[in-house]
Amino acid sequence: MIFEKYRLKGRLLKNHIVFPAVVCFGWSVNGEMSERRLEHYRQIAKGGAGLIISEASAVNPDAMLAESQLGIWSDNFIEGYEKLAGICHAEGVPVTVQINHAGIKSVTGEPLVPCPVPSDIPGRAKRANERARELAVSEIRGIEDQFTAAALRLKKAGVDGVELHGAHGFLLSYFLSSVTNKRGDEYGGSAENRARIVTNIMKKIRSECGGEFIIGIRYGGATPALEDGIALAEIFEDSGCDIIDISTGALGEAVPVPEKYVEFNSCVYTAIEIKKRVSIPVIASNSVGTIEKGKILVDGGLTDFAAYARNMLADYDWVKKTERGKESVRCLRCRACRWFTRAFDDCPARKRGRRQSPGIPGN
Ligand SMILES: Cc1cc2nc3c(=O)[nH]c(=O)nc-3n(C[C@H](O)[C@H](O)[C@H](O)COP(=O)(O)O)c2cc1C
Repeated sequence: MIFEKYRLKGRLLKNHIVFPAVVCFGWSVNGEMSERRLEHYRQIAKGGAGLIISEASAVNPDAMLAESQLGIWSDNFIEGYEKLAGICHAEGVPVTVQINHAGIKSVTGEPLVPCPVPSDIPGRAKRANERARELAVSEIRGIEDQFTAAALRLKKAGVDGVELHGAHGFLLSYFLSSVTNKRGDEYGGSAENRARIVTNIMKKIRSECGGEFIIGIRYGGATPALEDGIALAEIFEDSGCDIIDISTGALGEAVPVPEKYVEFNSCVYTAIEIKKRVSIPVIASNSVGTIEKGKILVDGGLTDFAAYARNMLADYDWVKKTERGKESVRCLRCRACRWFTRAFDDCPARKRGRRQSPGIPGN
């Protein structure tokens, strides 16, 4: 049942509701934690989520998805994450941190230096960034070490684990998909090879951070087909992954959703199918939107968790209020928060504090 407790690697979660990674655009510089962010996470933790996955944090200063995102590329960031862990734990909420290399979408670094991508591929992805070039194996190994070092810092900071960002067109997602990864070496070809950067990172993190540290991954359930998403899930499970969070992959691929699951989108549908094939917990995310849909997923045993991002951005207390049957401020699905600029500052639902709005749930 969605509001029942859940045990994840020794941590007791209040419920099966996840606040997924959401970058607070514009809220800090140089990758540093800010007081505003800490207060934001305090409010989310108070609001009743069972698990918080803190926003994408860059493992390398030259691989940021936004200049105002968080960083975890040096020990200087440990203190900020200690505060974050303390804030979440004070409210009884475990917190993991999403770690990322922005790959082709990097906005930082020497502009004349090509952004690293797994393959020098033609078509849409190449046009997205003409600077793209293929990574050397030695560079890939270096990136694996950057992820591992980031995880170790977070472990030192007292956070509960990490989520590798293998979705949304960032570096790891480009490795995972056969559309964007055309390598002919050990990092390309079969699903095992395409997953190798991730499985190497998982194994290295496990060895450095120990058995109790939560290792998760967010990736596309259709990468590009559902069969690929399933194959990858099985590989991740075998490589020590503790939790899988399904979203969109390198190029945002989607698969048709059968009529049976017509209320859900491709991300949620692929999460349902992947859940059938692994024994580790699976998070369904992306436009779950309503508690009714969350209950279909969790109470019905279709997935282990339901994630709600914008519901909690519009109303920090969405979980508590919903559990008590109280009305909450509803996300208008206006997408103002998605402009990669000013975070939720422009959220009209939030600004007006509307208790009843024409929001379209599940959009
Ligand atoms: C402002 C904003 C920032 C986001 N940042 C991230 C991120 O750092 N990492 C990530 O994997 N997804 C990110 N997302 C996607 C969300 O985690 C989530 O998948 C998406 O909002 C759909 O879920 P929802 O319908 O419950 O809002 C972001 C979404 C928004 C609106």
